[in-house]
This record gives sequence, C-alpha cells and structure tokens, in this order.
Amino acid sequence: MNNLDALLNHPPSPLQTVEQKVFAFRGLRLLVKRDDLLHPHVSGNKWRKLKHNLLEARRLGLTKLITFGGAYSNHLAAVAAAGLEFGFSTLGVVGGEEIGLRNPTLGFAKECGMDLIFTSRANLRNKPENELLKLLKIDPAGAFVLPQGGANCLALPGCREIVEETTAQLGHLPDFFITACGTGATLAGISTGLRGSTAIGVSVLKGDFMQNEVEKLLTKCLPSQSAIPNPKSAIVVDDFHFGGYAKWKPELIDFINDFKEKTGIPLDPIYTGKAFFAAVELAEQGFFPEGASIVLVHTGGLQGIAGFNERFGNIVS
Ligand SMILES: Cc1ncc(COP(=O)(O)O)c(C=O)c1O
Repeated sequence: MNNLDALLNHPPSPLQTVEQKVFAFRGLRLLVKRDDLLHPHVSGNKWRKLKHNLLEARRLGLTKLITFGGAYSNHLAAVAAAGLEFGFSTLGVVGGEEIGLRNPTLGFAKECGMDLIFTSRANLRNKPENELLKLLKIDPAGAFVLPQGGANCLALPGCREIVEETTAQLGHLPDFFITACGTGATLAGISTGLRGSTAIGVSVLKGDFMQNEVEKLLTKCLPSQSAIPNPKSAIVVDDFHFGGYAKWKPELIDFINDFKEKTGIPLDPIYTGKAFFAAVELAEQGFFPEGASIVLVHTGGLQGIAGFNERFGNIVS
C-alpha cells in the first residue's frame, strides 16, 4: 500500500497575481490561489477535501473507497485517481443511465480502476447514502464511504489550509476569499480559518439554500458553538448560477475564454468560471472596499471541460 506522505508534505499551491482592469481601477489587489496545480488529477478543492478523509481511511486500516457522483463529477474522477495513487480500491455509484464509458469523466475513472455502478439520478439526489448502498446491494464493510462531493466534516480542515497557506504566502490574511459552492463544504472550511476577513461563496446551483447548507455543516462539524465562525465570515451569493447546475450562457463562455487568453489561467464552465465571473461583477458593482486584497480560489474542475465540450461543441478553449 502506498504511503500518504505526498498528502502531508505537499508544497503550497502557487499564489498568482492577476491584472484585471476593473480591479486595478478600484485599487483592488487580485490573486488566484492555483489549487488547480496541486495535482494533475486530484486537483483543486478535491485535494483539500480528500486529504484528511484519506488519512482517516488509512488510520482505520480501510483499503477501499466508496463514493457517489453524477456522470461528469469532478469528485468521482478525483477519488478514482487518488485511489490509484494511494493504493485504495474504489467503487463509484453514478447517478444517471449507463451512458457508456465514452464520457471522458467515467472513462477516466474506469481507467484508474474504479468500479462503477449506475443508479437513477433521482435515487442519487433523494436517497440517503446508506439506503442507496442497501438498495444496490453494496456491502460497505471494510470500506470508507465518502459522500457526494466529498462534503463531510473531514473535508473542512483541508479547506481551512487554503487560508493558512495563502496567509503565509502573502504575509497577511487577505480581505476576501472567493470560491465556487456546490455543497458548501469548501466555503465552510475556508470560513473556519478567517478572523475578520470574509469568504464569498458563489453558488453554482439555482435557489437560495446554499447559505443554510454552509451553516448546517459548520454547526454539525465544529466541536463547540464558540468555534463556529462569525456568520459574516461566509457569505453566499446566489445570482451567478446562469440558470442552474451546468447551465451556461454565451457571456460565461466568452468570459472563460477571454480570462484564459489574458491570464493563462484555464477555468471550467461548471464551477470556477461562474465564481470568477461573479468576482468581476462584484468588483464592478463596487462591492469591495478600495485597497482590498481578494483571493480567487481556483478549485480545479478542469477535467470537466472535455465532457462539456463534447456535449456543447468545443466552445471552451
Ligand atoms: C471544481 C469544483 N469547484 C467547486 C466545487 C464546490 O465545492 P463544494 O462542494 O465544497 O461547495 C466543486 C464541487 O465539489 C468542484 O468540483
């Protein structure tokens, strides 16, 4: 079994200064925390959320990982790659009809050795994970079960490390972090590291429930009421989902392609594109006070571009 030293002794991801007119014009300092560069396949917030889960699985002597996700899930792909690298066998429960392994995400997971079992999207969405395992006759004995999106309490300390690393690199805590929100775990984890600064979560889902999800996670995961960060530390904005999960509009794609051309930084259309788009809009609206330092967290997700382009015709460059 491979050891997990790479998880513990990994160098910090780069903190890249980015020039964007609207930020410079308002005296704002903009940086991108390049977590997409942490690992070729376990990148972005996947690395952060899986780190303490994998350490715990190893501590418990468990050799198998079971998890859940949609057919294009970044999380499934990352768990498959992490299993291969760190010596866990992996099983993925996929929500959606068996659309075949030509889907780049599932093809990649399979290549990494992940076994895939398919269920309906409704089952994945509505059934608690232990019920789903029972229904599919999957015995979790000897396995470490990770929820969809890796969004459990062990995800939070890894995300908090984004704040610690950035503060060490910058020499001070930045005024704002901005991250995409799917389950809210990354935002919740970041907020636990803040003292007076603000983390903004850009929900990629339609609806106004994300703030509540973040609060629920913090209440469930933190040992005492006093450890729960000030509610002002984690603010969700719900206006940049572009119609809902994996929905998009041409202006989002134009923004992503333009951002890459100007900065060299690739963004995905499901998560980081929406979060970074939101940051620019907020700057334009005068949301940030003059002189503020703003760190955009690049949460990865770049593996999803191939599947997106396959469906919509090579529009993300
Ligand atoms: C690339 C990417 N960014 C952001 C998120 C959202 O993170 P969270 O689910 O922790 O809110 C996800 C989903 O996990 C993701 O795959």
